[in-house]
Amino acid sequence: MHKLFYYQFWSICTFLSAVTHIADSSPAFCFLSRQPTTHVIQSASELADTIPSIDVYVLVDHNNVSLPSSSSSSIRYIQLNETFLIKEGFQKAGMFGSNKICSAWDKALYYFTRIATNYSFVWFAEEDVFIPTTQAFLSLHELYSPHNDFVAPELAYNIQGDTYSWYHWYLAPGTFTIPWAHGIVCIVGSSRRMLSAVDEYARWRGELTFVEFLFHTMGIQHKEMTIVTPLELNTIAYRQRIAFEQVKNRPNNLWHPVKSFFNQKKWRQNIINITLIDKNQTLSKFHILKDKVIDDIGINSTSDLNHLLSLFELVKHQFTPTERQQLRHLFVRLANDQSEEISSLLHRLADHAFKLSEAHINTTMEEDRTEKYVALENKLVENKKTILWLVKNGNGSVDEKNEIGRLRREAKQLTLNLTREIQCERRYTRCK
Ligand SMILES: *[C@@H]1O[C@H](CO)[C@@H](O)[C@H](O)[C@H]1NC(C)=O
Ligand SMILES: *[C@@H]1O[C@H](CO)[C@@H](O)[C@H](O)[C@H]1NC(C)=O
Ligand SMILES: *[C@@H]1O[C@H](CO)[C@@H](O)[C@H](O)[C@H]1NC(C)=O
Ligand SMILES: *[C@@H]1O[C@H](CO)[C@@H](O)[C@H](O)[C@H]1NC(C)=O
Ligand SMILES: *[C@@H]1O[C@H](CO)[C@@H](O)[C@H](O)[C@H]1NC(C)=O
Ligand SMILES: *[C@@H]1O[C@H](CO)[C@@H](O)[C@H](O)[C@H]1NC(C)=O
Ligand SMILES: *[C@@H]1O[C@H](CO)[C@@H](O)[C@H](O)[C@H]1NC(C)=O
Ligand SMILES: *[C@@H]1O[C@H](CO)[C@@H](O)[C@H](O)[C@H]1NC(C)=O
Ligand SMILES: *[C@@H]1O[C@H](CO)[C@@H](O)[C@H](O)[C@H]1NC(C)=O
Repeated sequence: MHKLFYYQFWSICTFLSAVTHIADSSPAFCFLSRQPTTHVIQSASELADTIPSIDVYVLVDHNNVSLPSSSSSSIRYIQLNETFLIKEGFQKAGMFGSNKICSAWDKALYYFTRIATNYSFVWFAEEDVFIPTTQAFLSLHELYSPHNDFVAPELAYNIQGDTYSWYHWYLAPGTFTIPWAHGIVCIVGSSRRMLSAVDEYARWRGELTFVEFLFHTMGIQHKEMTIVTPLELNTIAYRQRIAFEQVKNRPNNLWHPVKSFFNQKKWRQNIINITLIDKNQTLSKFHILKDKVIDDIGINSTSDLNHLLSLFELVKHQFTPTERQQLRHLFVRLANDQSEEISSLLHRLADHAFKLSEAHINTTMEEDRTEKYVALENKLVENKKTILWLVKNGNGSVDEKNEIGRLRREAKQLTLNLTREIQCERRYTRCK
C-alpha cells in the first residue's frame, strides 16, 4: 500500500517536473513588422507550422491597420498603445528608421518583458531577414540558446567610451557607465535574464536606449551573462547584395537584407529541392574527408580543410548540439603542433562547429577603485533602489512623479560622472 503510494507520488512528481521543464524552456519568435503583409504572414506561418514548439508572433507597428483573424492561424499578433508604453518607459529603443519615440522594438520588448514573461528565450527578427530553411533556424536555436543570454550577429566593444568610433555613440553618455558595446540587431535571440534586465532598466530610467547598444552593453556589463556571435549570423549586414549562389553555399546561415519576397520564396524552394536530391551524399563526403584529415593532417592539408569547411556549411543542420561540440573538440585537438596556417583553418572549423561565448572583459578590480569611484557607484546603486521602490510601491501622486523625474535626471548625471571617473583612473582621457 505504502509502496504503491510512493510510487505514484514520485511518478506524478517526475511527470510534473517534466511538464514544468518544458514550460520553462519554451521559446518564442517575434517578427517586427510595420504591417502584416502576406509575405510576413507566410514566413511566420511556415516557422510556426514546422516548429510547433516555438510560439511565433508578428508585431504590427502601425496601429491604424486591422489585424488578420488569429483564430484560424498558428501565429499571434501584437499591437500596442504607444502613449501607454511611453509612460511605462518603453521608448527610444528604435528611433532610427521609424522616427518614432515608441517603435516596434519598444513594443516587442514591452510585450515580452511585461506581458508574456513565460518564454525563456525570445528571438526578434526584422521582416527582411531571410531564413533559408526552418531547420537552419532550429539548429541555431538548439545549439546556442540553452547556454547564452544573447545570440547576435556581432559584438563590437567600446572600452574607453569614446563617442566618435560609431555614429550612434553620441546617444550613449548618461545611459551606461563604460565599457559599452554595440552590434547589428536584424535578428537576435535574448534570454529571460536579458529581458528582465531590459525591464528593470525601463523601470529605473523611464526610457530605454537604442537597441543596437542596449542589449550588448547590458550583456558585457553583467558578470553572469554570456553573449555568442555564431557564424551562422555573419551574413547579416545593413546593406549588401545577396545572390542565390551565396545562399546555396551556406544554406544554414541567416541573411539580411533580402527585400524581394519573390526571391525568398523561390530560393527556399530551390534549397529544399537541392536537399532532397542530395540524400546523404554530402554528409558521407564530409565524413570521409574528415577521417582522411584526422589520419593525415599536415602542412599539405590546406585544400582538404577548405573543402571540409565548405562541405560542413551544407550539412551543419544534420548534427545534434552534442555532435557539434564534439566536432569543435576534435578540430581544436587536431590544431595542436600544426603550422600557423593549418592551425588557423582548424580553429575556423572549430568555431563553425561550435562558437564559444565571448570572453568577459576585465573591469576595475575591487581593490583598485578610488574612493570617488566607490562613492559614485554607491550613489548610483542607491538611486536605482529608490526609484525601483517608488515605481513599485509609490502612491502615484504628482509630488512623487516629480521626485522620480528628479531622481532619473540624477541617475544620468551620476552615470556621466562615474564614466568620467573611470576614464580618468584608467587614463583613457587626460584629467587634472
Ligand atoms: C498608418 O500609419 C502610418 C504611420 O504610422 C502611415 O505611414 C500609413 O500610411 C498609415 N496607413 C493607413 C492605411 O492609413
Ligand atoms: C492609449 O493609452 C492612453 C494612456 O494610457 C489612453 O489615454 C488612450 O485612450 C489609449 N488609446 C487607445 C486607442 O486605447
Ligand atoms: C505565454 O504567455 C502568453 C501571454 O500570456 C500566452 O498567450 C501564451 O499562450 C503563453 N505561452 C506558453 C507556451 O505558455
Ligand atoms: C523544385 O522541385 C519541384 C518538383 O520537382 C519543381 O516543380 C520546382 O520547379 C522546383 N523549384 C525550383 C525553384 O527549382
Ligand atoms: C542518411 O543518414 C541517416 C543517419 O546517418 C540515416 O538514418 C538515413 O538512413 C540515411 N538516408 C539515406 C537516404 O541514405
Ligand atoms: C607535401 O607535398 C609535397 C608536394 O606534393 C611533398 O613533396 C611533401 O612531401 C608533402 N609533405 C608532407 C608533410 O606530406
Ligand atoms: C583580464 O584579466 C585576466 C586575469 O587577471 C588576465 O589573464 C587577462 O589577460 C586580462 N584580459 C584583458 C583583455 O585584459
Ligand atoms: C505620496 O508619497 C510621497 C513620498 O513618495 C509623499 O511625499 C506624499 O505626501 C504622498 N502623497 C499622498 C497623497 O499620499
Ligand atoms: C557630477 O559632477 C559635477 C561636476 O564635477 C558636479 O557638479 C555634480 O554635482 C555631480 N553630480 C552628481 C549627481 O554627482
